[in-house]
Amino acid sequence: MIKLENLTKIYSLGILGRGGIVAVDRVSFEIGNGEIVSLVGESGSGKTTIGKLILRLMKPTHGKIYFMGEEVSRYKPLDYYKGVQGVFQDPFSSFNPVYKVDRVFENVNRYLLDLPKSEFWGKVEESLKSVGLNPKDVFGKYPHQMSGGQLQRVLIARALVIGAKFLVADEIISMLDASTRVDVLNILGELRDNMGLGILFITHDLSLGYYISDSTVIMYRGSVVEMGDTEKVFKNPIHPYTKMLLESVPTLDKRWKPSEEIFRVESGERFFTKGCKYYSRCPFRRKECLSFDGKLRKVEKNHWVACILTGGD
Ligand SMILES: Nc1ncnc2c1ncn2[C@@H]1O[C@H](COP(=O)(O)OP(=O)(O)OP(=O)(O)O)[C@@H](O)[C@H]1O
Ligand SMILES: [Mg+2]
Repeated sequence: MIKLENLTKIYSLGILGRGGIVAVDRVSFEIGNGEIVSLVGESGSGKTTIGKLILRLMKPTHGKIYFMGEEVSRYKPLDYYKGVQGVFQDPFSSFNPVYKVDRVFENVNRYLLDLPKSEFWGKVEESLKSVGLNPKDVFGKYPHQMSGGQLQRVLIARALVIGAKFLVADEIISMLDASTRVDVLNILGELRDNMGLGILFITHDLSLGYYISDSTVIMYRGSVVEMGDTEKVFKNPIHPYTKMLLESVPTLDKRWKPSEEIFRVESGERFFTKGCKYYSRCPFRRKECLSFDGKLRKVEKNHWVACILTGGD
């Protein structure tokens, strides 16, 4: 459904735009119909940037994104947003506090759907029920009269009313308490199973990713270091970075610090570093890692690792 091909985003620094930060570095992976993929990595690893690129909130520096086989820049914006929607970390920031919550739905009909009123509001009620909300608890309320978990569900319902096939969910449950988290996670799972929704679930919490996702993509400083079936990545982690993350799971509910070295580049062709980015932190580093091409190698069915020491092909 969504396919990333060599996706690269370099944020330019300075007025001449000659230097830059490589936030996303040649990332390729796919998300199928009815599949939940977790995108996991420490702060600053490029997760949100990937989400924003998929949502067309910015343009890639290199590489391509496809939705339903068609390059995303070929879609007219309104057509694209009927298919692809995003929900973000802070539900309160997605609502204008001055207006009642109903307004996010009114806007959908005004700008995207243009359905007869009764048909439209019927659809809204149905979608609210499918995310476990009673429409009576939603209509006529102001955002501050609802909880974070309820507002997140309203936003998911909004994507359903639009008829979205793909959802970018960026840290959507990190602000919720533990029991509400599980409710929202279960709703995502049900939408995948019942409606074939594809979801990119961005999280810094490995245990949430494990609970919900079919596949997992582990990022380090803009690059994918390991990816594949969630079961395989968690039960048989191979990249030294993935192993380190899994060993530190008990502390994962805390927010990660950004990598010590921000990945800065000069300009032009020299933006790609040579060798493995994890080299300086890796307990297994060897000389040849300095000339590693960074490419993922298949280590078993549906499991790829970017490490010279894997011996995969
Ligand atoms: N608008 C911007 N201009 C310049 N640099 C940016 C911009 N947005 C992000 N960056 C940088 O790009 C890198 C990736 O940022 P991104 O927000 O994608 O990380 P993230 O994995 O989502 O982190 P977090 O877990 O903290 O949300 C970081 O080094 C960040 O400082
Ligand atoms: Mg982020």
